[in-house]
Amino acid sequence: MSHASSEVAPSARASQARAERRADHLRLVVREGAPALLFHWFWLKHNALEAVHATTRERVLDPRDVPLDVRPRAVSVDDHTLVIEWPDGVSRFPIAWLEEHAYGREETPLVPPPHDVDVITLRALSLDGDLAQIARAALTQARRDRAVVVRGAGLDTEAIIDALAALGLSVRTTHFGRIEDLRTDNTTNANTDQLGYTDATIDLHTDQPFLEHPPRYQLLHGIRAADEGGESVVVDAHASARYLRAVDADSFEVLTRTDVTFHRKQKGFEKILRSPLLRLDEAGELAQVRHSYFTFAPFREPFDRTERFYRAYQRFARIVHEPTHQWRFVLEPGDFVLYDNHLALHARTGFRGPRWVRGVYFDEVPT
Ligand SMILES: [Fe+2]
Repeated sequence: MSHASSEVAPSARASQARAERRADHLRLVVREGAPALLFHWFWLKHNALEAVHATTRERVLDPRDVPLDVRPRAVSVDDHTLVIEWPDGVSRFPIAWLEEHAYGREETPLVPPPHDVDVITLRALSLDGDLAQIARAALTQARRDRAVVVRGAGLDTEAIIDALAALGLSVRTTHFGRIEDLRTDNTTNANTDQLGYTDATIDLHTDQPFLEHPPRYQLLHGIRAADEGGESVVVDAHASARYLRAVDADSFEVLTRTDVTFHRKQKGFEKILRSPLLRLDEAGELAQVRHSYFTFAPFREPFDRTERFYRAYQRFARIVHEPTHQWRFVLEPGDFVLYDNHLALHARTGFRGPRWVRGVYFDEVPT
């Protein structure tokens, strides 16, 4: 095979390859403009070129011994070689070898869930502190991006409620009351035997998944800061579900088809509902997520489908728990977050001190 004289032999050319770590796989851009190559971390661990016998060069690693959740410590491209540092050693793959053995090709770019809080932050000052303008901008963004963080909106929760109500949202009273005072010394709400009224960590969830129609939005309004901790976390579940479908279509399918039971049982309140975690609209996009480990009733589907469900659940959980897939921020007094409870998950870290956040649910008024 002859080469035109103008061509440069690959070995003499600096590699353009770029390796990107994703939650459960490597995204390898061999050259700009070409579809990226995708490799699962466990596949790379299994196929490490070092995992062969020193003299016979036969494979020494049985797939049964490959930890499916293996993750690298570091990944880099050194000239024409991908270098992966594992917790227990280093693997080197020539880029040409990876091209030859590639099995996953990203035809349309895989977009991970967003994490840049600045992109979803509005500053009240830049809107002259006018609550009508702030509410309009905030609601537009919450409808489009699933969440908005507003800095410096003041401490008047009722005024914020009025401004949102003027735009067509209606306050949704729940079994906790009209406004929740999320503080450890709560005296204003009913049914306070739940984590929200403690200083404990509350991991990612949606609110009220045990209702047939969970509230659409929640406003969380910072009134008083914690001495320590109390960070808010919001995850775009719509983007996360799309990402899951792109990296693991089977798990996505399982979560859209398997009913789970949400059971809220408090001293003075009880509700049960069965529903899949992910409900799709007619276009196949996520219409609603229900996700709540603390109201998750014992799973009772046929024995032979149970492991498959737990695996699918954990694949989705791994995506939404990846810190680079999360918006993380602290609500200072006067700040608020408004998020879409049908298309976003939320959490808060544990805290110490007098943290006080007021919570209000809203629905869209049907037009
Ligand atoms: Fe919540």
